[in-house]
Amino acid sequence: MGVSLRQDVVWLLPFFILLVTLNLRPARGQVCPQRCECVAKLKTVSCHGKRLSALPDGIPLDTKILDLSANKLRWVEHGDLISFSNVEKLDLGENMISVLEPNAFSSLQSLQSLSLRGNQLKLIPTGAFSHLSNLTSLDLSGNKLVILLDFTFQDLKSLRNLEVGDNDLVYISNKAFLGLVALRELTIERCNLTSVSSQSLSYLHNLVTLRLRYLGISTLEDQNFRKLGNLRGLEIDHWPFLEYVTPHSLQGLNLSWLSITHTNITCVPTSALRSLSHLTSLNLSFNPISVLESWSLRDLLRLKELHLVGTRLATVQPYALGGLRQIRLLNLSANNLVTLEEAAFQSVNSLETLRLDGNPLACDCRLLWILQRRKTLNFDGASPVCMTPLEVQGRSLGAFSDAALFDHFTCQKPKIRNRKLQQISAREGQVVSFVCRAEGEPTPVIFWISPQRRRITTKSSGRLTVLKEGTLEIRYAQVMDTGTYICIASNAGGNDTYFATLTVSGLPLDAALMANRTYYAGDLNDTNLNDTRVFLKFTLDLKTILISTAMGCIMFLGVVLFCFILLFVWSRGKGQHKNNFSVEYSFRKVDGPATSGGQGGARKFNMKMI
Ligand SMILES: *[C@@H]1O[C@H](CO)[C@@H](O)[C@H](O)[C@H]1NC(C)=O
Ligand SMILES: *[C@@H]1O[C@H](CO)[C@@H](O)[C@H](O)[C@H]1NC(C)=O
Ligand SMILES: *[C@@H]1O[C@H](CO)[C@@H](O)[C@H](O)[C@H]1NC(C)=O
Ligand SMILES: *[C@@H]1O[C@H](CO)[C@@H](O)[C@H](O)[C@H]1NC(C)=O
Ligand SMILES: *[C@@H]1O[C@H](CO)[C@@H](O)[C@H](O)[C@H]1NC(C)=O
Ligand SMILES: *[C@@H]1O[C@H](CO)[C@@H](O)[C@H](O)[C@H]1NC(C)=O
Ligand SMILES: *[C@@H]1O[C@H](CO)[C@@H](O)[C@H](O)[C@H]1NC(C)=O
Ligand SMILES: *[C@@H]1O[C@H](CO)[C@@H](O)[C@H](O)[C@H]1NC(C)=O
Ligand SMILES: *[C@@H]1O[C@H](CO)[C@@H](O)[C@H](O)[C@H]1NC(C)=O
Ligand SMILES: *[C@@H]1O[C@H](CO)[C@@H](O)[C@H](O)[C@H]1NC(C)=O
Repeated sequence: MGVSLRQDVVWLLPFFILLVTLNLRPARGQVCPQRCECVAKLKTVSCHGKRLSALPDGIPLDTKILDLSANKLRWVEHGDLISFSNVEKLDLGENMISVLEPNAFSSLQSLQSLSLRGNQLKLIPTGAFSHLSNLTSLDLSGNKLVILLDFTFQDLKSLRNLEVGDNDLVYISNKAFLGLVALRELTIERCNLTSVSSQSLSYLHNLVTLRLRYLGISTLEDQNFRKLGNLRGLEIDHWPFLEYVTPHSLQGLNLSWLSITHTNITCVPTSALRSLSHLTSLNLSFNPISVLESWSLRDLLRLKELHLVGTRLATVQPYALGGLRQIRLLNLSANNLVTLEEAAFQSVNSLETLRLDGNPLACDCRLLWILQRRKTLNFDGASPVCMTPLEVQGRSLGAFSDAALFDHFTCQKPKIRNRKLQQISAREGQVVSFVCRAEGEPTPVIFWISPQRRRITTKSSGRLTVLKEGTLEIRYAQVMDTGTYICIASNAGGNDTYFATLTVSGLPLDAALMANRTYYAGDLNDTNLNDTRVFLKFTLDLKTILISTAMGCIMFLGVVLFCFILLFVWSRGKGQHKNNFSVEYSFRKVDGPATSGGQGGARKFNMKMI
C-alpha cells in the first residue's frame, strides 16, 4: 500500500510545483514588466511580440533570459542595458534596429547568446560587441549588412557559432574575423559576395564546419581555405556561377566531409580533391556532371559515401570508383544511367547501400552483378527498375526470381559483319578507309589497333581516326602506315576481331597533294597523339595473331628476297668477285608519325656471298 501511495505523490509532483510557482509570483511581489511574461524561478522575462518601442520598465535585475523579439525597437544604446549584468541570453530578433552604438552590449558581461536576427542593421560599428568575452553564439542573419569591418568581432574570444547569412554583404574585410579563435561553425549564405578571401578566413583556426550557401562566387582562390587545418566539413551549395574548382583551392584542408552541390561544375574536381585523403563523405549532387571518369576519385582512400544525385550522369567509366576500397554507400539516384558496370569499382565487396533508382536502366548482363547481390545489397527502399528490354520494363531488380535470371540479364557477343579480307594498296597522300561493322547487344564499341599497336578510337584526332560507324580512316597515307590494322568490336558480352592490311608506296600523287601534306604536318606534332598511345591490352585470339604475324613475315621475306635478287644481278653484271658486302640499311623508327622527321637509325649488315 505504502509503495503505491508514494507513486501517486511522484505523479502529482510536477503539477504541484507548477501550482506553487504560479502562486508564488504575485505572492512574493516579484516585478514583471507590464505586458510581459516572467518565470521567476528560471529568471526568464519574455516580451515577445508586444509592440514595444522601447525597453519596458520593471525588468528584474537578476534576469538571465530576456526575450524582446518581434517588437518595434529601433536602437540599442549603452545606457539601456547597463543594469542587466546577469543576462545570459538576449533575443532582439525581428525588431527594427538599424543602429548599434559602440559598447551597446558591453555591460552584459555574462552574455552567452545574442540574437539580432531580422533587423535593419546596415553596419556594425567597431566596438559594438566589445567586452562580450563570454558570448558563444551570435546571430546577425537577415539584416542589411553590406560590409563587415575589420575588428568587428575582435573581443568575442569564446564565440563558437556565428550566423551572418541573408544580408546584402558585398565585402568581408580582411581582418573582420580577427579574434574569433573559438569559432567552430560559420554559415555565410544569401549574400552578394563575389569572394570569400583566404585572408579573412585565415583567423578562424578552430573552425570545424563552414557553410557557404547561395553565393554568386565564381572562382575560389588558390589555397582559399589555408590555415583552416581543423575544418572537418565544408559545404558549398547553390553557387550557380562556379564552373570549375581550381586544383589548389582546397589545399591545406583536412576534411572529413565535403559537399559541392547545385553549382555549374561539369566534372569531378579530381586534382582539387587530391589532398583530401581523410575524406569519408563526398556530395556532388545536382551539378551538371554527365561523365564520371576513370580514377577521378582515386586519392580519396577513405571515402565511404559518395552522393551524385540528379547530376544528369550518363556514363560511369571503368574504374570510375577506382581507388575507393572502403566505399559503402553510393547514391546515384535520378540520373541518366543506362547501366552501372561492376568494372567501375575497385571492388564491390565493400558496397552496402546502392541507390540506382530513377535511371533508364538496361537490364542486360552488365547489371547481373547487382541482381546477384539483390538480397544483400541495401537499396534504401528504392530498388532499381528496368527500362529496357521491353519484356521487363518497369520491373524492379529486387523482384526477379532466381529462375528468371538468365532469361533476361543476357548480352549478345559482338559479331563483325562482312568479314571479307580488306587489302588496300595506296600511294602516299591518299585517303584510305577500312570498314568494320558489328552487331551485338548492347551495341558494341569499335576501335582499331594500328601496326604500331596504337589504339585508334572515335576520339583519336590526327590523321588516323575512327568514324562513328566503325570505319577506320587514314588521311594523307604515308609509307609508315603500311601494315596490318586490327578492328576490335567489344561489348559486355565479349569481343570480336578482324584485320585489314594496307601497303602505301612512296610516290606522292602530285605536287598539290604534297602541299596538302605539309599543311597537315601540323597533325604530326600533335599533342593529342598521346591519348592514342595506349598500350594494347587485348588478348587477341590466336588466329589473328598468327595471320597478322604471317602477313608481316611474308612481306619482310619478300623485301629481303627482292634485295637479294638485286644484289645478285648487280654483282653478276659488274662481274666483281669480292665476297664481302657492306649494305647500309636505313629504317624508320616505329613509334609513329611523331618521329617521322626522318632521323631514322642506320644499321650496317655485313654479308658474305658464297
Ligand atoms: C564568463 O563565464 C565564466 C563561467 O562560465 C565566469 O566565471 C566569468 O565570470 C564570466 N565572465 C564574465 C566577464 O562574466
Ligand atoms: C544583392 O543582390 C540582390 C539580388 O540580386 C539585390 O536585390 C540587392 O540590391 C543586392 N544588394 C547589394 C547591396 O548589392
Ligand atoms: C552554367 O553553364 C552553362 C554551360 O556551361 C551556361 O550556359 C550557363 O549560363 C551557366 N549558368 C550560370 C548561372 O552561369
Ligand atoms: C586529418 O584528420 C584526421 C581525422 O579526420 C586525423 O586523424 C589526421 O591526423 C589529420 N591529419 C592531419 C595532417 O592533420
Ligand atoms: C547532398 O546535397 C544535396 C543538395 O544540397 C542535399 O539535398 C542532400 O541531402 C545531400 N546529401 C547528403 C547525404 O548530405
Ligand atoms: C539518395 O538520394 C535521394 C535523393 O536525393 C535521397 O532521397 C536519399 O535519402 C539518398 N539516400 C541515401 C542513402 O543517401
Ligand atoms: C575479349 O575477349 C577475350 C577472350 O574472349 C577476353 O580475354 C578479353 O578480356 C575481351 N576483351 C574485352 C574488351 O572484352
Ligand atoms: C588540299 O586540301 C584542301 C583542304 O583540306 C582541299 O580543299 C584541296 O582539295 C586539297 N587539294 C588536293 C589537291 O587534294
Ligand atoms: C604543334 O601543334 C600545335 C597545335 O596543335 C601548334 O600550336 C604548335 O605550333 C605546333 N608545333 C610545331 C613545332 O609545329
Ligand atoms: C605524353 O605522354 C608522355 C609519357 O606518357 C608524357 O611524359 C607527356 O607529358 C605527355 N604529353 C602530353 C602533351 O600530354
